[in-house]
Amino acid sequence: MLFTRVNKDTQALPISIEDWEQKARELLPDGPFDYIVGGSGAEETLVANRSAFSKWAIVPRMLRDVSQRSLRIELFGQQLMAPLFLAPVGMQAIAHPDGELATARAAAAAGVPMVVSTISAHTLEQIAETMDDAPRWFQLYWSNDREVCASMVKRAEAGAISTLDTLPAITEAVDGRIPVLLDSGIRTGADVVKAIALGASAVMIGRPFMFGLAVAGEKGVASVLDTLLNELDVSVALSGSNSVADLNRSILVRL
Ligand SMILES: Cc1cc2nc3c(=O)[nH]c(=O)nc-3n(C[C@H](O)[C@H](O)[C@H](O)COP(=O)(O)O)c2cc1C
Repeated sequence: MLFTRVNKDTQALPISIEDWEQKARELLPDGPFDYIVGGSGAEETLVANRSAFSKWAIVPRMLRDVSQRSLRIELFGQQLMAPLFLAPVGMQAIAHPDGELATARAAAAAGVPMVVSTISAHTLEQIAETMDDAPRWFQLYWSNDREVCASMVKRAEAGAISTLDTLPAITEAVDGRIPVLLDSGIRTGADVVKAIALGASAVMIGRPFMFGLAVAGEKGVASVLDTLLNELDVSVALSGSNSVADLNRSILVRL
């Protein structure tokens, strides 16, 4: 790799995802940075996703006892410590030489499941060994459906439909029969709360952890996760809820 990493000092690591992105932009050559930023879909979709989150606000509720909080959820019979996953992202060695192994270590330490991409730079066996018993999923491209998927993505991008705006219709159609995971545009703990309140079972983050990986490897992914989980905890408390399971549409106001 042609770039050098600065700041091994944790104190100097960025906090907001925008700052992680900015740092990654400074550190990475243009090619790898563009791979992360432009890796999935058109810019308009990302803009639409971000603005969809800003159309909702969490109504702050005071004078409720929210001192005992839980972020835990159950999904497919598995107990998870938070409604958060690392989205499948291919070829992570483009961001950092340790690639998926650094991400896997940080995910396992935080108890956040990692969804391993079909196109990983490290072998599935290496990743599995790194994670030991920690929860992980595998993302499989299903070749029969490729054309259908590609056409759906194209249509969504053409209309710059945000995933958040489509969520209520999807959760209504699914009607609790299967979990609904949302990704695209989650950048803060408040975004996680909004997505869950609007019907998602859990959310995934992609680019945010890739910026962390690019800037500081395992430590960077760990720091991004730590910040998001802390923000999520604070946002749950602010909404006057004790648990993620209690979040529903009533804690939000449409701006
Ligand atoms: C660089 C990059 C590579 C990706 N690779 C894959 C992949 O291999 N498989 C997959 O299903 N999704 C892939 N995605 C999509 C992500 O899983 C996720 O849907 C996307 O990053 C949106 O979330 P975000 O806004 O938090 O980044 C990739 C995304 C990026 C940015």
